[in-house]
Amino acid sequence: MQRLLVTGGAGFIGASFVHYVLENTDAHVTVLDKLTYAGNLDSLAGLPAERFEFVQGDICDAGLVDRLVAGCDVVVHYAAESHNDNSLHDPRPFLDTNIIGTYTLIEAARKHSRRFHHISTDEVYGDLELDDPERFTENTPYNPSSPYSSTKAGSDLLVRAWVRSFGLQATLSNCSNNYGPYQHVEKFIPRQITNVIDGIRPKLYGKGENVRDWIHANDHSSAVLAIIAKGRIGETYLIGAGGEKNNKDVVELILKLMGQAPDDYDHVVDRPGHDVRYAIDSTKLRDELGWTPRFPHFDAGLEDTIRWYRNNEDWWRPQKAATEARYTEQGQ
Ligand code: NAD
Ligand code: DAU
Repeated sequence: MQRLLVTGGAGFIGASFVHYVLENTDAHVTVLDKLTYAGNLDSLAGLPAERFEFVQGDICDAGLVDRLVAGCDVVVHYAAESHNDNSLHDPRPFLDTNIIGTYTLIEAARKHSRRFHHISTDEVYGDLELDDPERFTENTPYNPSSPYSSTKAGSDLLVRAWVRSFGLQATLSNCSNNYGPYQHVEKFIPRQITNVIDGIRPKLYGKGENVRDWIHANDHSSAVLAIIAKGRIGETYLIGAGGEKNNKDVVELILKLMGQAPDDYDHVVDRPGHDVRYAIDSTKLRDELGWTPRFPHFDAGLEDTIRWYRNNEDWWRPQKAATEARYTEQGQ
């Protein structure tokens, strides 16, 4: 039985991955998570105690990280400060967790010769024009725009350097925008769903023409498992499910699925440096590892996600007022 150490497993995608692994493999999972504002132990409720352990701690804590890495076979590194808007107001935690935290983990993985998988984002490649026929590939040059994406780019480069210079047994993946259950209400889709539930009009940054390439979090998890099992050491794999949509269309779809008028939203001040468009070419992942998404229908996935937020108000309600108060202060 493989022993996985999953950092950031109480966050959105980390928790989805932990559920996915426990349901689809016989691996044992240890989660290391600091439980920042973004971590939620309720996302890991009810998991089988004989196959799951939770450790609260910081990935920058070298002693703790060394002990946990020594006790596992594979490190799957999700922990990060993940929200662009927060990074524009206070970049420092992004440098600490995304750069120093990743450094701390790869040093331990090197020392104990452990397999390492680094989770990253398509935002490291910057953005594309709306009419650009190209999509991001593994060969697109790095060109990050925000403090968040630049610290993720830095962490990717550290992992690549540790592979080349120290023989770290690592793979990397850069995924597009995830949606699904357990996503914090600060993020676009859950913010708008919970706004509608609360009778608040959804908030669209700028004109709403920016495009994101949506993938269901379960499809991200199946891709990561495929890369851990069959990916080539030192390689990067882009993960995407062909889900390009502009923000205006997503808001209008949420309103329609929730029985509201499609124009019942507000335009608010735009994000500084707002990336225009992300789009992933996942040919390498599909051709080399035989991966295909199992949830390619965005409308159906969004409907399920809306149902989840309606049925799990206890999960998100404690974060909602403070999150909206922060946005109001920022004029968003
Ligand atoms: P999230 O903000 O929901 O969760 C992050 C988790 O990391 C939280 O549980 C938090 O408590 C934990 N954490 C933060 N700092 C820590 C520290 N110093 N030590 C230990 N734990 C710490 O983030 P997410 O959206 O689930 O993203 C997870 C990973 O996936 C990130 O690396 C992110 O860059 C990447 N990613 C996210 C998306 C997306 O659409 N959300 C897409 C591609 C890649
Ligand atoms: O592309 C992958 C990235 O996707 C991940 O690396 C990040 O961790 C994740 O947060 C996400 O980044 P984005 O900045 O694209 O996601 P966010 O949910 O913050 O915003 C999605 C789009 O919606 C973006 O164009 C900004 C816009 N937006 C966002 C919010 C919160 C709005 O129009 N209104 C809003 O209220």
